[in-house]
Amino acid sequence: KRLILIGPPGSGKGTQSPIIKEEYCLCHLATGDMLRAAVAAKTPLGVKAKEAMEKGELVSDDLVVGIIDEAIKRPSCQKGFILDGFPRTVVQAEKVLDDMLAKQGTKIDKVLNFAIDDAILEERITGRWIHPSTGRTYHSKFAPPKVPGLDDVTGEPLIQRKDDTAAVLKSRLEAFHRQTEPVIDYYSKKGAVVNLHAEKPPKEVTTEVQKTLL
Ligand code: AP5
Ligand code: ZN
Repeated sequence: KRLILIGPPGSGKGTQSPIIKEEYCLCHLATGDMLRAAVAAKTPLGVKAKEAMEKGELVSDDLVVGIIDEAIKRPSCQKGFILDGFPRTVVQAEKVLDDMLAKQGTKIDKVLNFAIDDAILEERITGRWIHPSTGRTYHSKFAPPKVPGLDDVTGEPLIQRKDDTAAVLKSRLEAFHRQTEPVIDYYSKKGAVVNLHAEKPPKEVTTEVQKTLL
């Protein structure tokens, strides 16, 4: 299966991805995670991406294209993949991804649209805690770790993302509505979009995803 997960910040893409990945043996390609790793490692890509990310703006298309092109060709991704956070502009969808897949003789099977009201997202974003090395995600209220501030599996400290503030969320939402919503229209015209009720509790969202992928 070749899936795209699309939705605003905090809509649950990163929460559902590991579950879908395990169940269907897919690889999980999250451009946000890859970019954060590049920023942390201070690679040339990370140095270029840092400022836009901290402001909650999209990184330029050409920076993202390089990482996704390399990732999609990995042997582990040949059986299928989950794209989380990509494509985020119509250029990324039409000119980059669809071209890349056409060359491989494949195409996207489904686009899961994590539909949710903006008003719910601030609480989700400001309460999020992450285990940096695995990307495991918690929420202080909705999915608390067993010991506050520590990862359930490793006991290592959890961190908050630098862009997870109410102020930066505003720019991220603006970027979503202006640049990413048109991507949903683009795939709707191809009949590939399935709308999820992303405001429901995580388990119910998982059930919706599973029904979609039957
Ligand atoms: P990225 O990392 O992709 O961030 P995002 O799109 O803003 O999405 P989030 O990771 O914030 O949300 P999520 O849907 O994964 O939420 P989660 O499941 O964790 O991108 C970051 C930046 O990188 C961008 O701003 C941009 O600068 C750059 N970038 C990345 N890709 C790019 C691209 N293709 N082009 C250009 N620039 C790019 O859930 C959030 C919280 O809510 C968690 O605490 C979770 O526990 C909780 N939660 C989840 N589901 C539920 C539920 N159903 N009920 C209650 N709580 C829930
Ligand atoms: Zn995410």
